[in-house]
Amino acid sequence: MRSFLNINALQKSDVLNLVQRALALKSGVRPIKKDLTVANLFFENSTRTNSSFQMAENHLGLQKIIIDPQNSSMSKGESLTDTLKTLKAIGVDLVVVRHSMTNWYDQILTDSRHDMPQLVNAGDGSGQHPSQSLLDLVTIYEQFGHLENLKIRIIGDLAHSRVARSNAEILKKFGAQVSFSGPAQWQTTGFEQFGDFVAMDSDWDKLDVVMFLRVQHERITKTENQNFSAKKYHEQFGLNQSRYDHLKSDAIIMHPAPVNRDVEIADDLVEAPKSRIFEQMTNGVFARMAILEYTMEDHNATD
Ligand code: CP
Repeated sequence: MRSFLNINALQKSDVLNLVQRALALKSGVRPIKKDLTVANLFFENSTRTNSSFQMAENHLGLQKIIIDPQNSSMSKGESLTDTLKTLKAIGVDLVVVRHSMTNWYDQILTDSRHDMPQLVNAGDGSGQHPSQSLLDLVTIYEQFGHLENLKIRIIGDLAHSRVARSNAEILKKFGAQVSFSGPAQWQTTGFEQFGDFVAMDSDWDKLDVVMFLRVQHERITKTENQNFSAKKYHEQFGLNQSRYDHLKSDAIIMHPAPVNRDVEIADDLVEAPKSRIFEQMTNGVFARMAILEYTMEDHNATD
């Protein structure tokens, strides 16, 4: 068994295998079932990731335990490390964790005094969201049949987005031409190695994929929230009918969701023909099945 923490730490061939495995599972290929126990531990709210991991676990025939951090002994001060050791001690093989702390797993992995379960990162603060990245790759691959040379624009709150961070790096590795747009105050450093920051409406008719990011009100400052105008944001950086009409006929629109309707995307375009937003959610179940199969494979530590 092995953990799955950062999609960008995997070999490209492994990522491509995961994409193709997810699509095979979607087409009806039978999953590999194992007699193992998984616990889901979500410290941040989630609808899609949490429920689609549970669906994936059901499809793989896993025994599962759902832990609510607020009703666990972490509310009495027990650390995440001790909680994970406890789960291992009682027989849990794999734990899916979402946490607000970026790189929550770094400290845990350096503590080798006790056995840890294998870990799956379901989103760490503003760090990585590897299962979202995989389902996004699956959705793009499903549309175009490949990932190379696609022109992909990522728009919005780059500074706080683990989705943007995970995706920009993995898409660039696969040879996509990535560019970014959005409010200047959220154009954080670190992204320039993956693509250029460009004006919102530039080359709109050449794009293959337009990926909108949620404005993360829970992560921006009180002052930023007070100064935020949904109407102004939508005019400057949102998807409206005019921008939609300028896209190529086979271009697709993506968003990790939840969508702030009429902010990132006009309400009536969320489910427009070019939108893949709900297909992304469907693909999330198959991507997470592929991830869980990958973690449960027998493999050498040097693989
Ligand atoms: N996209 C995503 O991570 O959604 P949830 O927060 O609902 O899991």
